[in-house]
Amino acid sequence: MHPNAVMLAVLLLGNLMVPFISAQNEPKINSSEEIILSADSSNKPVTLFCNITTANTPHEESFWMKNGQEIPNTRSEQGNTNYRIVKPRADDSGEYMCVYTFSTMPNANATIEVKAKPHITGYKKSENRKEGENATMYCKSVGYPHPTWTWRKVDGNSYTDIDNSTGRFFITNRDNYTELNILNLDISTDPGVYECNATNVIGNNAETTILRVRSHLAPLWPFLGVLAEIIILVVIIVVYEKRKKPDDIIDDDEPVGPMKTNSTNNHKDKNMRQRNTK
Ligand SMILES: *[C@@H]1O[C@H](CO)[C@@H](O)[C@H](O)[C@H]1NC(C)=O
Ligand SMILES: *[C@@H]1O[C@H](CO)[C@@H](O)[C@H](O)[C@H]1NC(C)=O
Ligand SMILES: *[C@@H]1O[C@H](CO)[C@@H](O)[C@H](O)[C@H]1NC(C)=O
Ligand SMILES: *[C@@H]1O[C@H](CO)[C@@H](O)[C@H](O)[C@H]1NC(C)=O
Ligand SMILES: *[C@@H]1O[C@H](CO)[C@@H](O)[C@H](O)[C@H]1NC(C)=O
Ligand SMILES: *[C@@H]1O[C@H](CO)[C@@H](O)[C@H](O)[C@H]1NC(C)=O
Ligand SMILES: *[C@@H]1O[C@H](CO)[C@@H](O)[C@H](O)[C@H]1NC(C)=O
Repeated sequence: MHPNAVMLAVLLLGNLMVPFISAQNEPKINSSEEIILSADSSNKPVTLFCNITTANTPHEESFWMKNGQEIPNTRSEQGNTNYRIVKPRADDSGEYMCVYTFSTMPNANATIEVKAKPHITGYKKSENRKEGENATMYCKSVGYPHPTWTWRKVDGNSYTDIDNSTGRFFITNRDNYTELNILNLDISTDPGVYECNATNVIGNNAETTILRVRSHLAPLWPFLGVLAEIIILVVIIVVYEKRKKPDDIIDDDEPVGPMKTNSTNNHKDKNMRQRNTK
């Protein structure tokens, strides 16, 4: 072989060896693939595993994390470690991580994504407001990855998508939470059914809130009701009292209609009675 060729070979090999050696020093973790919790398999237990395969320095401990928080009681000295979700539900989805600690080097870890369709866990069934007030509706979800949120107004079979553009509707989204604010409620256009819709790569889910808008006059209604009752009661008493008197029989031929509406009629009637008795 030509000396130059040998040199070249050595150079090439050397370059290849550097990453190989450093890779050998770095711990390698064989872990579960991404897991999807589908609705129909939701009650089958799921096991996440990690197995640390190559590390010159043995690890000290291993433990599990979910969404950046250590899961209690998962610390062990095992290199081959499992985390079991016995009855998986949407809120068990998230970003799981197995972590290995070492005395002489930084932690090693592997991430396992457990995904599920969004499930809306909190929302208002109804929102009752007066015209001119503001309404606030919200939805919150579990299910990883965090959904994208949309709102729409449902009118029978048709929908109107809601966005910020009208200046009266404001949508604010935060990961697993969305809020719809309607300012200065309009009694003719705003009442109805509003739907929040959470969509992620696995699927979507929606819930509805009924918005009721009362008129400014609404607080008067109970008062007007009581007033009407009193008037009716007075009319009934007057009519009854009148019928009890035998000399009033003649009056029965007279129309009773006007008496119901106006109590001043009673004075007129009394005058008439007096005339009658004369
Ligand atoms: C990782 O673990 C799985 C299950 O134990 C095994 O089938 C697979 O061959 C392993 N992969 C590697 C690179 O060791
Ligand atoms: C874990 O890794 C070790 C070393 O590579 C291997 O011998 C063992 O079979 C693995 N265990 C599992 C459960 O995959
Ligand atoms: C996981 O490993 C990365 C580097 O691979 C490191 O930056 C990160 O801090 C580790 N996280 C934990 C929780 O150990
Ligand atoms: C409605 O919301 C707007 C903007 O947040 C605020 O300025 C206004 O005072 C609110 N109106 C009422 C009646 O609370
Ligand atoms: C929503 O997400 C935040 C972090 O993004 C988390 O702290 C909170 O627990 C989540 N809430 C629900 C109901 O999943
Ligand atoms: C709508 O407006 C609110 C308040 O100005 C803002 O925080 C939010 O990001 C906007 N939402 C969208 C979807 O543009
Ligand atoms: C939610 O929104 C998605 C994407 O826009 C749509 O495909 C889906 O039909 C909606 N789901 C419901 C229940 O409205």
